[in-house]
Order: sequence, then structure tokens, then C-alpha cells
Amino acid sequence: MPTVQENLALWGERYDWSHAGDGWSLAWGGTEQLWGGTLLPRLQPFLPASTILEIAPGYGRCTAYLKDLAERLLLVDLNENCIEACMRRFSDASNIEYHVNDGRSLEMVPDGTIDLVFSWDSLVHVDAASVSAYVEQLARKLTPDGVVFLHHSNAGQHLGLLSRLLPQRAYLPLERRLNRNWRDPVMSARSFREVCGRSGLVPIVQELIEWRPPRWLLTDCISVATLPGSRHEQPLAVRYNPRFMAEARRLRKTSELYGSP
Ligand SMILES: C[S@@+](CC[C@H](N)C(=O)[O-])C[C@H]1O[C@@H](n2cnc3c(N)ncnc32)[C@H](O)[C@@H]1O
Repeated sequence: MPTVQENLALWGERYDWSHAGDGWSLAWGGTEQLWGGTLLPRLQPFLPASTILEIAPGYGRCTAYLKDLAERLLLVDLNENCIEACMRRFSDASNIEYHVNDGRSLEMVPDGTIDLVFSWDSLVHVDAASVSAYVEQLARKLTPDGVVFLHHSNAGQHLGLLSRLLPQRAYLPLERRLNRNWRDPVMSARSFREVCGRSGLVPIVQELIEWRPPRWLLTDCISVATLPGSRHEQPLAVRYNPRFMAEARRLRKTSELYGSP
């Protein structure tokens, strides 16, 4: 199970950040395609957003786009080297604030100020208790029409059941085989809805997605939530999307045909 300590050790100075995260966009054909073809269409309804909070930016793969969408952008990451790399990379941008945290706390973010909270490809590796701690604080941080857009683990939906049904000695090797992307084995779309309910957030969209074969194992979830009475409030729409990576492949093929920046 991923812990704060393991995340601190894994993504720290010793990690090979020479690709600044862009290597993780190769399935899309590059970060431009990931951003323009997959993320922006899902974020569009919540833009413009004058103040954006990005949790766990790494070396700024998505920050490079978010900074141009916001008047003010707050970055919070557990690892100091990540925040320092973002400071170097975005030294020309005067609208970014940088914070290193303990993997859970958002105390540096003033209440009632955030229009959009964004996190991509990071919280999937974060334990359910830490994700819940973030979500609990986020209800206080949002402006009245503010929105939370988080990519988190849904592995708990499958593994939770198996861990209850099977004895440890049978479950652990199975978990190793089914959880090759180091997803938190407890967190799920359902846990996100439960913590929203406790914290005063209203979940409005959940897209359960695959990350790598087998396609039927929807290990990840993109969850969107807002505050009651917000202009974005709507009944929860849930989509089971076992063809999420097919979207990435289509974008990659288009970029192979036409070329990419
Ligand atoms: C796989 S990298 C992804 C970075 C970036 N989101 C991207 O897509 O390129 C994971 C990042 O999450 C950060 N991280 C891990 N656990 C965290 C936590 N509990 N709170 C804040 N940041 C965390 C790591 O320091 C690292 O920067």
C-alpha cells in the first residue's frame, strides 16, 4: 500500500526526472496531446478559473498549461525537489505560489479562494486516508462555484472485495499481479463519494477508467465535485470507460500522422 513516506522517497532527488514527467504522456503521443485531447475537454466546463490549486504537480507537466489559464496558481507537492524544479521551470511566471507540504495538509491555502482544484496522475498512488484528508479540507477552500477535479485510485473497488474474500497468502500475490501501476488498493470511486458526503461536497461526475490491460479492471477514477448550490451542481453522472486508453492511442496516431510540436 503506498504511504506518504514511500511517495516522499520514490519521487525525491533520486528519481530520474530528466523527462520532467513527459515520458508518462507517450501513450498520447506527447504532453500536448494529453492536455489538449484528454484533459482540457474534461476541464473546459469549469474554465475560466481565476484561482487554481494544483496538488502534486511533480516537475510541472500540467502546470505548464494551468499557469496560462489562471490569474493565480497555487502548487502544493510533498517533495521539495518537485517544487524547486517548478520554481526553476516557471521562473518567468509571476502568478504562481509554491508550497511543500506533508502529504496531507492544505493549511497554506486560504479558505474560500479556490475556483478549481486539479490533480492528475499523482493521487492514484496516494493512500485513501491522505486523499480523504485532502477532500475534507477542499470543501472549505472552494469559492461558491468552485470545482474539484481529481484523478485518484479506484483499485479498492476490485481489490477491496478480493482482500475480504481471500486469505492473505492468496490475496497478496494476486494484488501484485493486478496492481502493477502502484494504485492505492483501498481508495475507490465510492470512498470519494463517501468523503464528499461527510465534507459537504457534491460529486457531479465520476469517470472510472482503465490504465493498462486488462481493460475490465477500471483501476482509476476521475472525480469532479462542487459545493451545494454551485452553478455546476448537477445529479451525479457516472461513466464506466474501459476505452480510456483507446482515446490516448487515437490521439497518438493523429500526432504520428500530422506531427506533434
Ligand atoms: C507520478 S508524479 C506525477 C506528477 C505530475 N502530476 C505529472 O503528472 O507529471 C507524482 C507526484 O505526486 C507527488 N505526491 C505524492 N504523494 C503526495 C501527497 N500525498 N501530497 C502531495 N504530493 C504528493 C510526488 O511528490 C510527485 O510529484
